[in-house]
Amino acid sequence: MKQATPMNTDIIKKDPTKFTKTPNISDYTSSYKDFTWEKAEKEFVTFFEDGTVNAAYNMIDRHVENGKGDKTALIYKGANGENETYTFQQLQKLSNQFANALTSLDVEKGDRFFIFLPAIPERYVAFLGGLKLGSIVGTMFAAFQEAALIDRLSDSKAKILITNAVLFPRIEKIWKDLPHLEKVIIVERGSQDQPKGDTIVYYKDLMDKASEDFAIAHLSKDDFSYMLYTSGTTGKPKGVVHAHGDILQAIVTTKYVLDVQDDDIYWCTADLGWVTGVVYGALGPWGLGVTQVMSEARFSPEGWYQLLQDTKVTVWYTAPTAIRMLMGSSVKVKDYDLSSLRHLCSVGEPLNPEAVMWSYEVYGLPFHDTWWQTELGGISITNFPIMDIKPGSMGKPLPGVVAAIVDDEGKEILDEAEGNLALRPETVSSIMKQIWNNEEKYNSYFSHGWYLSGDRAFKDKDGYFWFVGRADDVIKTMGERVGPFEVESSLVECEEVIEAGVIGKPDELRGEIIKAFVVLKPGIEGTDELKEKLKAYVKQHLAGHAYPREIEFIDKLPKTRSGKIMRRLLKAKELGLPLGDTSTLEDY
Ligand code: WTA
Repeated sequence: MKQATPMNTDIIKKDPTKFTKTPNISDYTSSYKDFTWEKAEKEFVTFFEDGTVNAAYNMIDRHVENGKGDKTALIYKGANGENETYTFQQLQKLSNQFANALTSLDVEKGDRFFIFLPAIPERYVAFLGGLKLGSIVGTMFAAFQEAALIDRLSDSKAKILITNAVLFPRIEKIWKDLPHLEKVIIVERGSQDQPKGDTIVYYKDLMDKASEDFAIAHLSKDDFSYMLYTSGTTGKPKGVVHAHGDILQAIVTTKYVLDVQDDDIYWCTADLGWVTGVVYGALGPWGLGVTQVMSEARFSPEGWYQLLQDTKVTVWYTAPTAIRMLMGSSVKVKDYDLSSLRHLCSVGEPLNPEAVMWSYEVYGLPFHDTWWQTELGGISITNFPIMDIKPGSMGKPLPGVVAAIVDDEGKEILDEAEGNLALRPETVSSIMKQIWNNEEKYNSYFSHGWYLSGDRAFKDKDGYFWFVGRADDVIKTMGERVGPFEVESSLVECEEVIEAGVIGKPDELRGEIIKAFVVLKPGIEGTDELKEKLKAYVKQHLAGHAYPREIEFIDKLPKTRSGKIMRRLLKAKELGLPLGDTSTLEDY
């Protein structure tokens, strides 16, 4: 059994008299007791008179109608020094225009519309416009290469895609295999030469022709809003589909967990291509009508501190790898004025206690760990501003959410022992509504009345949850989820490779790195040059972030008698751990 509770001295006690602002939740226990999703929905979501809803209306238009049209919705810092701001009213008009533009391309409710852009404002305009009209919006990370793109665009049968001249060549290569992709919209920003063709249309042309008025689609809470492909142990990435009503949990958690208040300047560092960027870089903050910052530049300690200082960020939501990089950097925090910061949160991978203690020391504020998943659509277990922090713990369930540690029969484990982290699905308001075209996969998440997260964890006597690891082979590198199968598939495309087994190897900075064990064709020599070649291949064909940082050539992969690669054994060997049960193993 794991050590359940750290020493008392490690606990960060909260002193309510020291808060610069009273937190939105002032007592966890009573909030948990009193909370119901029904009440919260009445408070936080605006329905149309006919009882229907639209997430984008809740993010933008209703604030304009409530007199907040001139409030800044977005502060944008471009990679080349661009500095732009957009009010809620401006975003209302732009997103209406874009919804009209999509309509002119025959996009209808339920059609899949995909966004493949870097972090530029047009990405948000496209996202909002797509929601307004009722299309199912898919966002993709700009580091994706053709293998990742084709999986997503072909499985979803995306009809229209928006991208730019820099990213378009990756689409051009695969378009012939995407019969459903009718047109590509090109955003002109940032490039002189634009691609041309009968099925290519331009953002500016479309917007110039489009009216600033749009009749927003009246939808049911369960109508689909966005979809994100995410990786599991086996097979290709799966399309996790969310609904318009899921904005409720996004708003509730932005308010109660991120503690965002009306005059805050909020910065979520996640990319819109991942779920944190969608839920906490769009749905939640704009659902609450607050000002948020968006930065296009890649991570650098200087750049981030400068941005925090210049835009006077008050609430900051980021990820452990970034925090550890800041921690390890020689850039001095005291050279910047970060006095506006008042609340810090983290997500995506385990937040180590050292990072919490470090931030407490250097910023005077601890990072608050939050736990959730793409499938859940919103923070589900977390540390609240009012709650004492046990560094290393993910905290407690969100009001409304029932979480537990269960054994493989669904029986709750109560003695602080490790087990499966599970949630009662009906208590997670924003839980996924479907796995696109894959009912079997969807059903596989649910057992004995629980939603099984695939994470292993334990709960201590005070009700705090502690993350232990994944129950499956999913890799988390720099907070991003990578499926070993996709990396293996990419490696075996290389002519030198017979087969490959891929694992996540613990790494102090990145949480995990991707390590590949590769079997070469007879006669091929496993040189360092070949390692670099294989790495470059995955980077260029699958995705820039999903390549193996380490490669080891081996003679044979451990497999079950039915031929399945036993990654668990590769990992155990790598880490020098006991091999466990090997009875199903073929000769190895
Ligand atoms: C991991 C990201 C430890 C976990 C929002 C989960 C975490 C997976 C934490 C989901 C945390 C997320 N502590 N592990 N606070 N938050 N994870 O879908 O393994 O990209 O199952 O969603 O990330 O990753 P996803």
